[in-house]
Amino acid sequence: MKKVVLAYSGGLDTSVAIHWLAAKGYGVVAYMADVGQEKTTAPAIARAKKAGAVKVVVRDLKKKFVTDYLWPALKAGAVYEGRYTLATALSRPLIAAEQVAVAHAEKATAVAHGCTGKGNDQVRFEVTTQALDGSLEILAPVREWEFKSREEEIRYARRHGIPIDVTKKSPFSIDKNIWGVSVEAGVLEDPNAEPPAESFQWTRGAEGRNLKEKTVEIQFEKGVPVGLNGRKMDALKLIAELNALGSLYGIGRMDMIENRLVGIKSRETYEAPAATILIQAHRDLESLVLDRELLHYKEGVAQKYAELVYYGLWFTPLRKALDAFVETTQARVTGAVRVKLRKYSACVVGRRSPYSLYKETLATYGGKDKFDQRLAKGFIDLWALPYRK
Ligand code: ARG
Repeated sequence: MKKVVLAYSGGLDTSVAIHWLAAKGYGVVAYMADVGQEKTTAPAIARAKKAGAVKVVVRDLKKKFVTDYLWPALKAGAVYEGRYTLATALSRPLIAAEQVAVAHAEKATAVAHGCTGKGNDQVRFEVTTQALDGSLEILAPVREWEFKSREEEIRYARRHGIPIDVTKKSPFSIDKNIWGVSVEAGVLEDPNAEPPAESFQWTRGAEGRNLKEKTVEIQFEKGVPVGLNGRKMDALKLIAELNALGSLYGIGRMDMIENRLVGIKSRETYEAPAATILIQAHRDLESLVLDRELLHYKEGVAQKYAELVYYGLWFTPLRKALDAFVETTQARVTGAVRVKLRKYSACVVGRRSPYSLYKETLATYGGKDKFDQRLAKGFIDLWALPYRK
């Protein structure tokens, strides 16, 4: 029997996909990747077995997600189209890479995912698979099957005894991991409609909350967050704490029209409290310790890096080369940044570093001034020389 490893989320699509693939003659290994999506796995495992999986494999990828994906993206400053902090996009190459490893371990000849044919995620999954093992067959049931609606899928599930939970289903399509929540569909498909309160997953209720301003201090070492308010902290814990705190304040909400790789414009909302706070703090620390030319050049790299992530081009020579560049820029990104949290916004209010390039004796307008203002004239005359009439 041919074996396929399916990236299984526990939801309706991938539950039905198990049965659909089994009906096509595959032995289906349901593979669940834990990237912090807060889903309970026990019912999902039971559902996979009921649907006909020959085996269920669960992998906790949270640590690897932070060290190998989130921190490199943070150091690079990757943000897509100025706002999207890439939670979903960053998780896909990781999930797909581990899926290839599971396929090898299970001696499977195929992998499958539950993405539709309209999104970016199918691209990210399949490019990753092909970059890591071009011999694996790739199956995308949701792109191929005969169901024309969710109702038809539910009927199929009922007919085949696949236990599904339709009551809990939200009208939105939600993807979650420790770096953020992505929400689309439902009423959000009207780009002019304001996101309803219930579309928010982590920051729900922020509007009604009466909160005092709060300042947090984040410690960085070589571009990596290592502590919160002076306490050394494990990366996962640090992200979880900032998510919890930031969510209360409604920080990191984004409502945007974004350009998908497949050419469609789509309306997405995101919630990424920790990512928003950390990216802002990190960028601020860089502005203190990097010289002007490096900082400006790096802004271009950040944009390119975000595109690579968004386009599913994680396992490519360019991404690796950019990582090497970014890494050399982070040697002095050590220090602490204070961020003030207010409702819906995080704002840097102070920064320090042993590698600070800021010189008060140069910048000051006060008595400590060491800057020889007479030098400015010669500098400007030469600067203007090519343009002088
Ligand atoms: N538009 C985002 C991306 O392509 C998120 C897509 C995932 N979405 C979802 N809501 N189900 O990265």
